[in-house]
Amino acid sequence: YTVTVDASATGPEISDNMYGVFFEDINRAADGGLYAELVQNRSFEYDRVDNAAYTPLTGWAPHSGDPRVVDDEGRLNERNRRYLSLALPAGVINAGYNSGIRVERGKRYDFSVWARTDQPSTPLSVGLTDPAGTALADPLRLTVRGAAWTRYTGSFLARTSSITGRLLVRGEGTGTLALDMVSLFPRDTFRNRPNGMRRDLAEKVAALRPGFLRFPGGCLVNTGSHYGYEAPNWERRRSYQWKDTIGPVEQRATNANFWGYNQSYGLGYYEYFQFAEDIGAMPLPVVPALVTGCGENRATDDEALLNRHIQDTLDLVEFANGPVDSTWGAKRAQMGHPEPFGLTHLGVGNEENLPDEFFARFTRFRAAIEERYPEITVISNSGPDDAGATFDRLWQLNRDADVEMVDEHYYNSPTWFLQNNERYDAYDRSGPKVFLGEYASQDNRFRNALAEAAYMTGLERNADVVRLASYAPLLANEDYVQWRPDMIWFNNRAVWGSASYEVQKLFMTNVGDHVVPSESTDTPSTLEPITGAVGLSTWGTAAAYDDVRVTSAQGETLFADDFSGTAENWTPTEGRGSWAVTDGRYVQSDTVAENTMVTAGDPTWRDYDLSVKATKLSG
Ligand code: AHR
Repeated sequence: YTVTVDASATGPEISDNMYGVFFEDINRAADGGLYAELVQNRSFEYDRVDNAAYTPLTGWAPHSGDPRVVDDEGRLNERNRRYLSLALPAGVINAGYNSGIRVERGKRYDFSVWARTDQPSTPLSVGLTDPAGTALADPLRLTVRGAAWTRYTGSFLARTSSITGRLLVRGEGTGTLALDMVSLFPRDTFRNRPNGMRRDLAEKVAALRPGFLRFPGGCLVNTGSHYGYEAPNWERRRSYQWKDTIGPVEQRATNANFWGYNQSYGLGYYEYFQFAEDIGAMPLPVVPALVTGCGENRATDDEALLNRHIQDTLDLVEFANGPVDSTWGAKRAQMGHPEPFGLTHLGVGNEENLPDEFFARFTRFRAAIEERYPEITVISNSGPDDAGATFDRLWQLNRDADVEMVDEHYYNSPTWFLQNNERYDAYDRSGPKVFLGEYASQDNRFRNALAEAAYMTGLERNADVVRLASYAPLLANEDYVQWRPDMIWFNNRAVWGSASYEVQKLFMTNVGDHVVPSESTDTPSTLEPITGAVGLSTWGTAAAYDDVRVTSAQGETLFADDFSGTAENWTPTEGRGSWAVTDGRYVQSDTVAENTMVTAGDPTWRDYDLSVKATKLSG
């Protein structure tokens, strides 16, 4: 290949915040990830609705006595509905995430709990131990007094390091002790902020020097019901609504997370804005448009609800930018940030499958925001895929309405990324700008990173059209994976970047001022081997497959399965659906909305084009 560079010419300007990060609470990116809380299920709100395997005591084991979780009038507050009741003497142990609570010798850990007792006073002992019960720090001795909920605090100085730490909380004496919001934070958080971020993970993200931080999702944003967490229904599975996530942590709602676990909202909108500011990134929140996506296709027709969400979105702008004497600006100031956060871009909706229904509602949000805040860029989207009728229809609607910016998402093979380098050369220069909000080539190998790097040169060449771009998803806890590939991987003790992370870092830390026009005699179009696994995926309903056959373009059968045996060649790689061979068919055994994929094991890396045929029997 010969590349010719015209150094005397000047191409489009590249904005400083062109490359950013997409944060979604997927793969336990928040609780058990970036949010530094070490106790899992600190408020006993885990529920079957979040995950069929959960009970309100998930994460906890009895130490002594008969610990019970109750949901009655004695609760801490209306939004934190359950609490732990201990008939004394009794105690519980929390095992944190991954292999346990990580404790580093010489560091401080801040404990807090809300408690009340039916005795004049009740001794409470709190220990940081290894799994065998050996102390990692001197235990805390607290005294709970009186029948009113009160917050008690203490701190541990770790004497021994451990990655399998346990938190033991034990009430002594007689009577009944009630506990809620049992919390343990490392004092050493990112920027030493209370209720803060895990330092090593936050630093890994900060090292990218991202131009923007998109949050909080993804499918997380708009799936579920759009009603709030309120009486009389206390809706458990609802879309991500920012007002649920601010204020004192013990008063924040918790929610079922689309990705199959519980989200505490300890990492909420205030913390996202603060984090964006801390790492020098433009904040870019995305709010639900009242049309679900990601396998759930429902549009809300409740006018009052739609108006409430539109008002919530206006309130969000006020929360971010309003003066301290405005209603929502005052709440921001109360939480510790009187200065505005400087919100300039806001996404409405994510991957809706119903283009006209979405666009009708998007238009209402857009009109209301632009009328009140004309300086805000309101971002629309182009549906779940970069091909097909929904994408075409949404682009047409966005173009016709002169929308400023459109969010595109795609996950494709490395070969696709090489072959589509010129995708944006053909985009209309006078149409909406592109926010490439999610993309990745489908694996975490070196060749994926290489293909992404090549593709990013095409984004950059078109910096007049592609204004913002973020690889997705950002984070994955290796023990709780719903989606791969991911940019940054971690467990309770280590953080490591993928090859794609290094590519993103290279581009983000070397953003140019403008494009220097160049030409190449040719471009590589394939990176072999290109595939080695076969996936069957389904959204939403139970599915059954039979007779899967993978054939090369040369006619050779590379893999075949009629499911007359066991499921040994298949590994579920995503989602929480369970798969099994039943009656000679491969079936997903539950009906939970989910992106579940199975992959043939023992892939052979071959230089072939493949065709996959499967009989889909249902779902
Ligand atoms: O990035 C993972 C998921 O991919 C996002 O939640 C969704 O928007 C897309 O389908």
